[in-house]
Amino acid sequence: MTQHLATPADVPTTGTHTGWWRDAVIYQVYPRSFADGDGDGMGDLEGVRSRLPYLRDLGVDAVWLSPFYASPQADAGYDVADYRAIDPMFGSLHDADAVIREAHALGLRIIVDLVPNHSSDQHEWFQRALREGPGSPLRERYHFRPGKGADGALPPNDWESIFGGPAWTRTENPDGTPGDWYLHLFAPEQPDFNWEHPAVRDEFRSILRFWLDMGVDGFRVDVAHGLVKAAGLPDIGAHDQLKLLGNDVMPFFDQDGVHEIYRSWRKVLSEYDGERVLVAEAWTPTVDRTANYVRPDEMHQAFNFQYLGTHWDATELRTVIDASLAAMRPVGAPTTWVLSNHDVTRHATRFANPAGLGTQLREAGDRELGLRRARAATLLMLALPGSAYVYQGEELGLPDVTDLPDEVRQDPSFWRASGQDGFRDGCRVPIPWTVEGSSYGFGAGGSWLPQPATWGALSVEAQTGDPGSTLELYRSALAVRRAQPGLGAGEDIQWLDAPEGVLAFRRDGFVCTANTTGRAISVPLPGRFLLSNEPVAPGADTVELPADTTVWWAV
Ligand code: NOJ
Repeated sequence: MTQHLATPADVPTTGTHTGWWRDAVIYQVYPRSFADGDGDGMGDLEGVRSRLPYLRDLGVDAVWLSPFYASPQADAGYDVADYRAIDPMFGSLHDADAVIREAHALGLRIIVDLVPNHSSDQHEWFQRALREGPGSPLRERYHFRPGKGADGALPPNDWESIFGGPAWTRTENPDGTPGDWYLHLFAPEQPDFNWEHPAVRDEFRSILRFWLDMGVDGFRVDVAHGLVKAAGLPDIGAHDQLKLLGNDVMPFFDQDGVHEIYRSWRKVLSEYDGERVLVAEAWTPTVDRTANYVRPDEMHQAFNFQYLGTHWDATELRTVIDASLAAMRPVGAPTTWVLSNHDVTRHATRFANPAGLGTQLREAGDRELGLRRARAATLLMLALPGSAYVYQGEELGLPDVTDLPDEVRQDPSFWRASGQDGFRDGCRVPIPWTVEGSSYGFGAGGSWLPQPATWGALSVEAQTGDPGSTLELYRSALAVRRAQPGLGAGEDIQWLDAPEGVLAFRRDGFVCTANTTGRAISVPLPGRFLLSNEPVAPGADTVELPADTTVWWAV
């Protein structure tokens, strides 16, 4: 495969950047699967530290690290037992400090994951709450309730866990008799905090300060929409509640009371120098409700999951892009764009399958088509105003590993009936760095999830220096984005006339065209060629856009 790449001479060399997070490209590291420094088959902070120069050279601005805290790993670290300690499997606070310092020395910012909706069931508060039994003041920091029915054998309400099954688990009293139930929107090992309790609020402000003092540049806030539950924990009155998610405000999601918490956190951040940021993982029914999280006194950014769920279809894309920009404009926050993360099937595999299958797939689909569209989709994303998220391995064009044997899977949802997730291990397979080697350079030992035989050919080593590779496409695109005034910055795009199935828009000094039609199509020449995911041969006045191709033009 070859592609046209901009040479440095083609690229204008200045850009104005204020508020680093407004147009930042943020790379998500999933520490378990990025790089293994000690050869135990599990990625770690030393692995991350050793690969920071790779990320600097890739051209990203910041790194978001998924959780590395002390955790029994019931949900891959999203079950935190101690928010101020590093799990030994990932290293130590000394290693975290080294990552932050070396990243800063390389000009990279560090965003850490904060998990405030729930703790691990091994957290000291929860353990004491269980040990001390009914009446323990520690129980008030979680949601303990008596069961319904004559002997309390039924859950306190009808809420269902996102991972499947009831959102309640019954406890055993210290004397061995059946006790109260506790709420967990996710796995039973993840009890939800009671955010009405002042001790919970104080504790998290203190945790924020701990990491701000460590020097982090911000926090990605897990389940930011879930902290506050509707008063009285009312029944929903429907089965299959997961189908309602995203369509409506639920009594446990997107309650207006969450915003007061983020206003108080914003005040904490503003005491620190250096533009520290809060990023909301908030699954809301509409982009307008997402905008509530990034009002001027709340968070800085929110993930744009509506964009992530969009198919490779010009009409759909344009609708979501317009709605996203319009929703953020009144609150003055940058829009974000994201195509992949550790919770969804990688976009190279989503786009390899027919539209409408959702974001959790088991089908490999047409890999060549998927990769081609994924590359085109990435160029489109990186041409939009705002901040863009890149999930580790997408710069290698990695597909999801759809044929993992059941016995190696660790996603807790896979093992619970009828949950929302379940196939997330497929996007979490460790990264290939080298063509050969027991874990393709991931580490000196094996890898906690098996890597497919195709991994070596997709490795960083195999793709480096190959002008047709996905890795070099990302490097070029990020270099152009850094250098091109107006790319990423600003809040608006100007749509240009284009044939059906083609998107064309103008930014400051720049035009992007994206052909989603699945066939070649001729358009008037928009400007001077900069970059594309497939070879294009501009004529004097027209250019043929190959199928599934995005092209960047200087104008
Ligand atoms: C969202 C995280 O991204 C996901 O991995 C996790 O399972 C849930 N929140 C629960 O923390």
